[in-house]
Amino acid sequence: MRVAVCPGSFDPITKGHVDVVARAAGLFDEIIVAVLCNYEKTPTFSTDERVDFAKKALARFENVRVEAYDGLLVNYAKDVGACAIIKGLRAVTDFEYEFQMSLINKKMNPEVETLFLNTNSDYMYLSSSLVKQIAAFGGDITDFIPEEITEDIQRRLIRRTK
Ligand code: PNS
Repeated sequence: MRVAVCPGSFDPITKGHVDVVARAAGLFDEIIVAVLCNYEKTPTFSTDERVDFAKKALARFENVRVEAYDGLLVNYAKDVGACAIIKGLRAVTDFEYEFQMSLINKKMNPEVETLFLNTNSDYMYLSSSLVKQIAAFGGDITDFIPEEITEDIQRRLIRRTK
C-alpha cells in the first residue's frame, strides 16, 4: 500500500490545500494530512481546531485521514509507513524554501521522497494568512475556504479580533 503524507500548519486549511490533497489522493492508496502541532509561528487556531477544520473539509475523501504530529516530519513519515511527502507549490517564491526542506529531509531519511504538486492556477494567490486578514475585517471568504468550515472560521476570527 502506497501511503503519502501531506504536511502543513493548515492554519486554517484553504481550498488550495484541499485541491492539492484531492489530487494526491488520486495518486496514492492513502493520504495522511499531517497537521503540525508545534511550529515556529504561533498559530491562530489551536491544533484541535486545525485538525477539526481539516477533517470536515476532507471528509468526502475515503482514502484521506487527518492527524496531528509533532517533531520531525521524516520521523513521522517513517512511523506511519509513508513513502512520500507531498507539498503544494504556488509560485517560484515557495520553491526555494520547499527545495531546502526537501533536501534536508532526504538527507535525514533517504527512503522518503518529496513530491511537489503545482497548485491549481485558481488558487495561486491564496494563503491562510491572507484569508485570516480578510475574515478578521469582515470580508467574504467563501471563495477561499472550504464551504464545510467557512461560517465557523468567519465567526471565530471576527470574535478573536474584537
Ligand atoms: O504549512 P507550512 O507552514 O508550509 O508547513 C511547514 C511544515 C509544517 C511542513 C514544516 O515546517 C515541518 O515539517 N516542520 C516539522 C519539523 C521538520 O521536520 N522540519 C524539517 C527539517 S528541519
